[in-house]
Amino acid sequence: MQPKNNDPEVTRKAMAPVRAPDLGLDAQECVMPEPGDPCTIVILGATGDLTSRKLMPALFDLYLNQGLPDHFLIVGCGRIDIDRQEFSAKMQTALKNAGANDEDRWRHFAAMLHYCRTDFEDPDTFKNLVQLLRDLDEKFNTGGNRIFYMALPPSVFPSAARMIGQVGLADENQNGNGWSRIVLEKPFGTDLKSARELDSSLARDFSEHQIFRIDHYLAKETVQNVLMLRFANSLFEPIWNRRYVEYVAITAIEELGVENRAGYYEQSGVLRDMFQNHMMQLLAMTAMEPPSRFEADQVRDEKIKVFRALRPFRVDRLEENLVLGQYSAGKVDGKPVPAYREESGVAANSLTPTFAMMKVYLDNWRWQGVPFYLTSGKRLDQKLTEIAIQFKRVPHSMFRHTLEASIAANRLILGIYPEETINLKFQTKNPGAVVCLRTVTMDFHYQQNYSGPELDAYARALIDCMLGDQMLFWRQDAVELCWKFLEPILNRCETCDDQTELLQFYEAGGKGPEAAAKIQKT
Ligand code: BG6
Repeated sequence: MQPKNNDPEVTRKAMAPVRAPDLGLDAQECVMPEPGDPCTIVILGATGDLTSRKLMPALFDLYLNQGLPDHFLIVGCGRIDIDRQEFSAKMQTALKNAGANDEDRWRHFAAMLHYCRTDFEDPDTFKNLVQLLRDLDEKFNTGGNRIFYMALPPSVFPSAARMIGQVGLADENQNGNGWSRIVLEKPFGTDLKSARELDSSLARDFSEHQIFRIDHYLAKETVQNVLMLRFANSLFEPIWNRRYVEYVAITAIEELGVENRAGYYEQSGVLRDMFQNHMMQLLAMTAMEPPSRFEADQVRDEKIKVFRALRPFRVDRLEENLVLGQYSAGKVDGKPVPAYREESGVAANSLTPTFAMMKVYLDNWRWQGVPFYLTSGKRLDQKLTEIAIQFKRVPHSMFRHTLEASIAANRLILGIYPEETINLKFQTKNPGAVVCLRTVTMDFHYQQNYSGPELDAYARALIDCMLGDQMLFWRQDAVELCWKFLEPILNRCETCDDQTELLQFYEAGGKGPEAAAKIQKT
């Protein structure tokens, strides 16, 4: 017999209901990384649209949230001849337009802004930049560490990089320089050959560890969270494979049309604009094996294996795996919108696809036979980005004879936009005397219990660039593998005689070409 224990504390503990202890880390505890080294961000193309709409608001946001190093400067470079005050005024307007109106903090922030006129045709202007950077380093202790952000049209990436190299700003840890990093955004070429050419021109002056190829999808919190969900839980990984998964549907669709980007979009179309980059990254995050460490190269090595496992399409039977579409006139949010071919800057007989659905397979042990449906398109009925894992049905339905109900299979949806959620659908018994099943949803909202800053993808990418962490950036071998996969498809689509047959027209504001639904059933 157990000795009687009269200690009230022991009795209290013994009587307490058995509950799982709270395991969580308070969401507020790990919000912002320690700011990195002092540095200067040099924005080439500082008077352009990308700087006003994305970079400056992201930098201001980081400033407001103590996400910038103590010693930090922004040097805007552009071809127009304006002085520091004029540049500052432009940036203030840009921030106001972006909804950032903190006058007091703006004054401090503005003190970090400088401007230098640069022209790729005129090397002397880059020598002036070198001088300005050295003077600023000395005055503000920025340590010679620099990020060169290419907010420029891709066609001038090579000359801009060359110019930086020629004036000695790409060299690290010499002549007054600390580290030196170059940041560029897609498109990384328009095919394999041009991607390699771009890389060779960057490689003349920069090594791979200095090159940061941005994919803003990777910097989305919920996209990064795919790895946490998969590899920080023991629940999902055992069923994350061909045995349990029926198919995976990765969707990134939008209501917007081509807007004012026809010049770029006519040459790129949805395959180059969304598939060569964002869709491939979403696929890799969903399908990759667990890396042994959460470090840039280990993670990127695993993604490479996914790209290598992509089963090449049979280009003579493209229609089995690919649906291409282009929007015709229709209504979005009740308002009439023109057809793609009627948009300004678009050729009246354009065959550029604005929609694609691809059925891809990965030839590896984990995913053999599981289709991945990748869908992206413009002018559809909603803006939605999500990854849906459709699980298989139960192997045997013991309820079949009693309930006469077919049992819906489980589905896990990782919502990226508009809802940042994880939601799991499963079966339960419907409450009540009649025994029947119902499908219910378990919902997690990403911002739940969190009131810290919400950083946009650019702010996040800039932090990592300042810290020198390349995990969220493309490595050249991955860029090339994705082009290798896409190039035969692009060649066939763009050069075959039956181009019009490959392209289905769909009404703007609708669900996309009907053929997309068919592909999913085959
Ligand atoms: C860009 C594409 O990379 O991504 C655009 O060039 C597209 O065409 C955009 O609209 C979509 O991004 P997000 O973050 O709005 O889903």
